[in-house]
Amino acid sequence: MSADQLTARLAADRTRVDARLASLFTERAAPSPRLEAAMRHALLVGGKRLRPVLVYTAGRALGAADDDLDAPAMALELIHAYSLVHDDLPAMDDDDLRRGQPTVHRAYDEATAILAGDALQALAFEVLATSKHPRTGALVAGLARAAGRDGMVAGQALDLAAVGGQPDVTALATMHGHKTGALIRAAVRLGGLIAVDEHDPRLAALDAYADAIGLAFQIHDDVLDVTGDTATLGKTSGADAARAKPTYPSLLGLEGARRRARDLVEAGVAALAPLGEGAAPLADLARYMIERDH
Ligand code: IPE
Ligand code: IPE
Ligand code: MG
Ligand code: MG
Ligand code: MG
Repeated sequence: MSADQLTARLAADRTRVDARLASLFTERAAPSPRLEAAMRHALLVGGKRLRPVLVYTAGRALGAADDDLDAPAMALELIHAYSLVHDDLPAMDDDDLRRGQPTVHRAYDEATAILAGDALQALAFEVLATSKHPRTGALVAGLARAAGRDGMVAGQALDLAAVGGQPDVTALATMHGHKTGALIRAAVRLGGLIAVDEHDPRLAALDAYADAIGLAFQIHDDVLDVTGDTATLGKTSGADAARAKPTYPSLLGLEGARRRARDLVEAGVAALAPLGEGAAPLADLARYMIERDH
């Protein structure tokens, strides 16, 4: 697929999920206008929508219909948006800029940011639980595990514990694999689970792909923190070094980190072999994930 075709496909999936996420706020009235505004701020403005795109791309590779992929696509973005709101809080990374606009606690206040994150997380599970897919139980359980104490939240705890320290590359891979990899793995797996049941061997191939690209994605995020500029990133560059965060560039150097991300992506693409030709869009997406400039 050419770069233009990939760009068009990404844009189409973003437009699709954006329309559905926006409709969450118009389909019924909720009692707190301030909370609603903060949730919309966190969810609807900016963002690459990579996790929804992964849900659609993985699901289609196994034959799922787009209409059945909307709920997991929305749920993954809702959890991701909540994780960013909390990640930016003063008690965590203390960031002022996200997706090119003030972070939620800056635009509103800390308490509202905490509550908006809480409500985005609850909404993710509501969307998934009411989607009426025959494997809804597995989908909800998979997302819960990826989001919580076995996944993203555990990774955030490891990240906070590591500030100022020098973990080795194995510990860093564990931290990144949880804080970022878990939701990327869930995006790919939930997409797959819409099409096939958990015993289908192609899911194992998708898992191996997702594990590799999830880590590569966070390594590239660390690289962009060093090489990117604030306007392009839409978040403050250099924030990791300023906060003494252990990162791949701090451990392996910039070139070492880039090489590691490339190797992981190629390993992830190789893991797709059992899926045949239908996996080509997943391979394109993996390469895009470490070539992006924001
Ligand atoms: C940023 O994720 C946080 C990480 C887990 C690295 P993204 O780079 O996907 O952020 P958005 O959604 O495009 O803003
Ligand atoms: C965030 O990692 C992972 C999350 C669970 C949100 P970072 O702290 O590196 O993400 P950015 O750089 O603030 O987007
Ligand atoms: Mg963080
Ligand atoms: Mg952060
Ligand atoms: Mg970062």
